[in-house]
Amino acid sequence: MSTPSACSTRRTISPADVIAIDGPGGSGKGTVASRLAAALGWHLLDSGALYRVVGLIALRRGIDFDDAEALAEAARKADIAFQDTLGAMSGPSPIRVVVDGIDETDAIRRAEIEQPASRVAAVPALREALFAIQQAFRRPPGLVADGRDMGTVVFPDARLKIYLTASVDARARRRFEQLKQREASGSLRAPFGSDRENVAGSAAAALAAIRASTEARDERDRTRPVSPLLPAPDAVTIDSTEMSIDDVMAAAMALVQERGLGR
Ligand code: DC
Repeated sequence: MSTPSACSTRRTISPADVIAIDGPGGSGKGTVASRLAAALGWHLLDSGALYRVVGLIALRRGIDFDDAEALAEAARKADIAFQDTLGAMSGPSPIRVVVDGIDETDAIRRAEIEQPASRVAAVPALREALFAIQQAFRRPPGLVADGRDMGTVVFPDARLKIYLTASVDARARRRFEQLKQREASGSLRAPFGSDRENVAGSAAAALAAIRASTEARDERDRTRPVSPLLPAPDAVTIDSTEMSIDDVMAAAMALVQERGLGR
């Protein structure tokens, strides 16, 4: 598996600063993390993408979601490359995820990958295999890391930890809109089906399915024995249910400045 660039294992200077943004899916953390990274000129780690890649590989190869060794080995052997924000992009935009030379960005964002990703994320051996890979993203001038256990497990010394949450209804609605937009742009076919005359009914059913899937994923992510989805004791919690993404960004930037981070 390849990381953005070669990293020295010996440190002669203090490690780069990290901002950890954790929280459930649909809370807006991906957008906030990518905007923060762009605003600060820092690197970006979308750790959920790693679990999604392994979920995708497991699904395609028929690897049992509970087969710890096979999952960890698949993760170690896969060549996963991220398009980094630094230098590669002028503003926030989804990072491209390339696996063994193939752009899988759209494939890992499909609705049907969410449950496999959540299932494999509960496997301790896989989490261990991904631990060092995630830490290698920590490079100057700094890293914004988005996930579930960035502040609790992977970067416990992060200078700022934000736990971004929102009600399950708000998160399901946002996810629905996101998938709809991707479908409209032609990059995704799930979850609406192709019958245009039935689009209203199919949209209502899709929203209900997304809500159920969001709840199931939350439950699994929160109750797993390893790295459960929990705010770090020193995290600042932001509830984005009634906030726009710009409001959340303003709150996050205020915390960044308060801690004296960035440029
Ligand atoms: O944020 P996301 O929806 O892309 O995450 C996909 C899955 O990976 C989700 O079920 C939670 C899991 N995950 C995790 O366990 N730990 C992380 N640091 C990031 C994601």
